[in-house]
Amino acid sequence: MQILGVDIGGSGIKGAIVDTETGEFVGERHRIDTPKPATPEAVAEVLAQLTSHFNWQGPVGCGFPASIQHGVARTAANLSSGFIGTDIDKLFSETTQCPCFCLNDADAAGIAEMHFGVGAGQNGVVLLITIGTGLGTAFFTDGVLLPNTELGHVYMANGKEGEHYASDAVRKKEDLGWKSWGQRFNKYLCLMEDLFWPDLIILGGGASKKFDKFKQQISVKAPIKPAALLNQAGIIGAALHAEAKNQKK
Ligand code: BGC
Repeated sequence: MQILGVDIGGSGIKGAIVDTETGEFVGERHRIDTPKPATPEAVAEVLAQLTSHFNWQGPVGCGFPASIQHGVARTAANLSSGFIGTDIDKLFSETTQCPCFCLNDADAAGIAEMHFGVGAGQNGVVLLITIGTGLGTAFFTDGVLLPNTELGHVYMANGKEGEHYASDAVRKKEDLGWKSWGQRFNKYLCLMEDLFWPDLIILGGGASKKFDKFKQQISVKAPIKPAALLNQAGIIGAALHAEAKNQKK
């Protein structure tokens, strides 16, 4: 089946039509800058521009950088706080005139990696961490997602939230080299390991492409694999989510 998958991020909103059988894009990806300020109405308008761009009338899956409980945004760490409490499934569906199904962006990336990427066929506990503006997490046991884990906000021994200490945005802002940022990220991974003992850790997001530059700093026991689908994972996973939800309607 073909579904429009969208990845809503702090700087860009990207969409592509996804063939959910193969996980491949049908045609080109399209990107529009995230509006500033990123209010619910402004983001919904950009989504409508995307559906018009693709001349799309079917289901839309949206990865969104917040906890999404049954279509309602519960947090908004890196977007307008106006999203908190907003039924974004409803708002986006009304604005685009297409049935929209939203989920956390890291959960979307995780679903795609477990289907088509390095997590395919992996049992046990899998933790996917997206390294970007924030640290997003997706948590699976025997392939089943526990949605909305917000483990990027766990406090570390230094009193800082994980994502305020070891995200890619912090690396850029503080102009850290890969070695010193890698040491920080390793502390975060060690905390995750102490708490959850994953059998596999998958790294996604921009910095995962540079794994070779910081892998020497990583000391956790769990095997670590960079994501296979890179920046396509969020779009593909959002499409898979929408397909599943649309069938249940
Ligand atoms: C948000 C998460 C999101 C992550 C990556 C965090 O700040 O709280 O919901 O998955 O950033 O975008």
